[in-house]
Amino acid sequence: MKSTPIEFNTVSRLIEESGLKSVGKASIREIKKLVDNIEEATNKKFIRMEMGIPGLPPVQAGVKAQIEALQKGVAAIYPDIMGIKPLKEEISKFVKLFMDIDVSPEGCIPTVGSMQGGFAAFLTLSRLHKNRDTTLFIDPGFPVHKMQHRVLGLKYESFDVYNYRGGKLREKLESYFKSGKIHSVLYSNPNNPSWICFTEDELKIIGELATKYDIVIMEDLAYFGMDFRKDYSKPGEAPYQPSVANYTENYILFISSSKAFSYAGERIGMMVVSDNLYSTNYPDLNGFYPRDEFGYAMIFGTLYPLSSGTSHSAQYGLLGILKAANSGEFNFVDYVKDYGVKAHQMKEIFLKYGFEIVYDMDIDKPIADGFYFTFSYPGFDAEELLDKLVYYGISAISLLITGSERTEGIRACTSLVKHEQMTDLEARLKQFSEDYPLNS
Ligand SMILES: Cc1ncc(COP(=O)(O)O)c(C=O)c1O
Repeated sequence: MKSTPIEFNTVSRLIEESGLKSVGKASIREIKKLVDNIEEATNKKFIRMEMGIPGLPPVQAGVKAQIEALQKGVAAIYPDIMGIKPLKEEISKFVKLFMDIDVSPEGCIPTVGSMQGGFAAFLTLSRLHKNRDTTLFIDPGFPVHKMQHRVLGLKYESFDVYNYRGGKLREKLESYFKSGKIHSVLYSNPNNPSWICFTEDELKIIGELATKYDIVIMEDLAYFGMDFRKDYSKPGEAPYQPSVANYTENYILFISSSKAFSYAGERIGMMVVSDNLYSTNYPDLNGFYPRDEFGYAMIFGTLYPLSSGTSHSAQYGLLGILKAANSGEFNFVDYVKDYGVKAHQMKEIFLKYGFEIVYDMDIDKPIADGFYFTFSYPGFDAEELLDKLVYYGISAISLLITGSERTEGIRACTSLVKHEQMTDLEARLKQFSEDYPLNS
């Protein structure tokens, strides 16, 4: 019997009982369930890096505003499907103050998490042009967006951006755009899972090509302001959260409140549609919607049948958070900075014991410390490594499900790891490096 930090036989038995052929191939939720079972059976805590859950309490300004709204009775009343007026105005202010972009309140729409914003956008965008049927993902990316495409029966193409950074991005994007099939592009920035952050030059390339080929850019800002190398936290003061919105008028932004405001449980996010896109008429939409104006079709044609709007009280909760952020009373970036501190410590420990950072550079600078990082161990592919790490009390997910070409890569999420677990992490990785020495 092998001696591993988490008892070998128990782990082996529970893996077998789970019916999973391999831990390395399991989905995020399957890994979560397996690790819950192992923790319960062994009474040992894992270093849990598989799920992107906020590790912080919800922003109190939101909780307070939401409770007040509930006490006033909003639960009984259907919210307007386009969002309540004060929230739409506050979102418009938020993007002005933290991104320096102008969007009318009309195009600022609360959604049931960014997840629903994406779903609604994919549905509407796939119908903009009769002769264009494909979304382009700039990968690696969030696997659920692809799952949404599959359930909607929509086509997508994708490429791993790591080898196409900087000026190389233009030619790569154009090679897809020239096909005439692409109606829209999606990427997250900072990127889940690699934590790549696009530069202004890259955003300019994306924006210019979007205008040239009349393609809509969906910019997923789930980790808004969380490139901690710059301070994006001061309302109305540069630097601002970088965005493609500065370089094209064809954009939709998804701003999740899950990570930036630790509000994942209330399922509320913001979809921000540029004024230009909102008011553009696309005749091909007529086959599906009462009107062919994009914004109208999105609200009264897509969001209405999906959920008839977003939870009334959660809208007031988000309003409370945005008011506190916009007035400068609440610094939402400082609130989440600890993720970066933990990433820094964790990466150092991984590197010390022979692990490597997979997406290691942001063009010419080391990748920033944030919510996620990626790692590998020489000689192992991701599946083998994840299978082994479970015995060492470490759980994470493979990059393979993210559209990454790096078959050796694993995504680590920093949010649930506690500072007091760093010594455990170090001891476990040390033992791993002794059990699988690099020069053997
Ligand atoms: C890149 C990205 N987009 C969207 C989401 C979903 O956001 P929400 O919780 O607002 O639906 C996540 C959540 O992990 C994410 O990482």
